[in-house]
Amino acid sequence: MTDLASGNNDFVTVAKVGAIPEGEGRSFQVGERLVAVFLYQGRYLAIDDLCPHMGASLGAGYLDEEGVVTCPWHAWRFCVRDGKWADNPRLSVDTFEVRVVGDEIQVRAEATTRQGDKETWRQGDQV
Ligand code: FES
Repeated sequence: MTDLASGNNDFVTVAKVGAIPEGEGRSFQVGERLVAVFLYQGRYLAIDDLCPHMGASLGAGYLDEEGVVTCPWHAWRFCVRDGKWADNPRLSVDTFEVRVVGDEIQVRAEATTRQGDKETWRQGDQV
């Protein structure tokens, strides 16, 4: 795994191509974040791994044919393409850029969408 300096824009190798089956997700430590990487229709996509409800791993959730992952604990659903909460698209989890270099899947250490860039779920929001 590539060494990571905190807070930069570097990409971090998380796995080899083939380690994530089509239609599934896996969770990886990327810097100080846990990131869920999915292989959806041949494309790698990454979102914050921690469900904003109670912190379950979204990488362990069920990914449907629409690209929506269902949290394994209480079934909140998030789009893996843009991080939006399927039941309230005004709110979202962070997304991360993913690239493939050679046979390595790499995730950008800094989230593409960050709290403050747009409306995100916060502790205490009414659901
Ligand atoms: S922890 Fe994800 S829906 Fe409850």
